[in-house]
Amino acid sequence: MSSTSLERETVLLETDDNGISILTINRPDKLNALNKQVLDDLGDAFDFIEKADHIHLTIITGAGEKAFVAGADIKELSTLDKQSGEQTSATGQSLFNRIEQFSKPVIALVNGYALGGGAELAMACHIRVGTENAVFGLPEVSLGLIPGYGGTQRLPQLVGKGKAMEMILTGKQIKAEEAQKSGLLNAVHSTENALEKTKELASQILKNSPQALTASISAINAGFRSNGFAKEATLFGRLCETDDFKEGTSAFLEKRKAKFTGN
Ligand code: COA
Repeated sequence: MSSTSLERETVLLETDDNGISILTINRPDKLNALNKQVLDDLGDAFDFIEKADHIHLTIITGAGEKAFVAGADIKELSTLDKQSGEQTSATGQSLFNRIEQFSKPVIALVNGYALGGGAELAMACHIRVGTENAVFGLPEVSLGLIPGYGGTQRLPQLVGKGKAMEMILTGKQIKAEEAQKSGLLNAVHSTENALEKTKELASQILKNSPQALTASISAINAGFRSNGFAKEATLFGRLCETDDFKEGTSAFLEKRKAKFTGN
């Protein structure tokens, strides 16, 4: 393996001669769902990118043709209780906050489903480019949960409070065109052209001063500081102890519709 690439169980990183690295979440049989391993591997990848002088910008995408990331791993979620739920939310928030504050630009190439934690990962990136089959959704309420990796905080920043309320309370999915109109996607391209177009955007960014890029990211983020993240993690943990959460996650794993009782 060359010093320009990194390989982990669930993540691949390759860098071209222009200093653009492609970070691929590689768990296509589970639609790249974020289990603990993926979160650890992503953390390793960002450690590597941070130290690598030859990497100037990163594009994150998902392996396979169907999904960017179809959410947090529901099998793992189903075992959480109040304490581990709150901890899981805080761990995801910490990684995604790191991406949001990262000193080098990070672009999400959303190549299919970006649901739950997948939408939250994309929202933590600095810019989002979608393929025509990109689909966004925050379906956590259908599992008896709320978004726990920063989604309750970042979605309103990107689409406004009213649209965020609608998306989170209904849990419904929106397609690429609506995602672009709503401000979730900066651009939409055909599946064939999307990577090339994203690299063109990356090259345009990289013509500029690296210090000015870092400062821009930092200054823009400073305007959105909010303490809602702690509230999100507390409520996420609390919901992990409800009957509705057990029912919601069991129903997904048993491939049936959930019947909620409000308990
Ligand atoms: N966690 C764990 N496993 C997941 C997953 C997730 N978030 N999303 C998909 N998978 C798994 C499925 O269980 C299935 O595994 P199996 O082949 O072992 O049964 C595999 O990935 C393929 O998914 P499948 O549901 O068969 O694909 P589909 O094309 O019929 O549906 C989705 C695609 C994205 C609509 C559907 O997988 C889905 O609703 N996923 C969950 C989305 C979600 O609620 N995410 C938020 C979590 S907080």
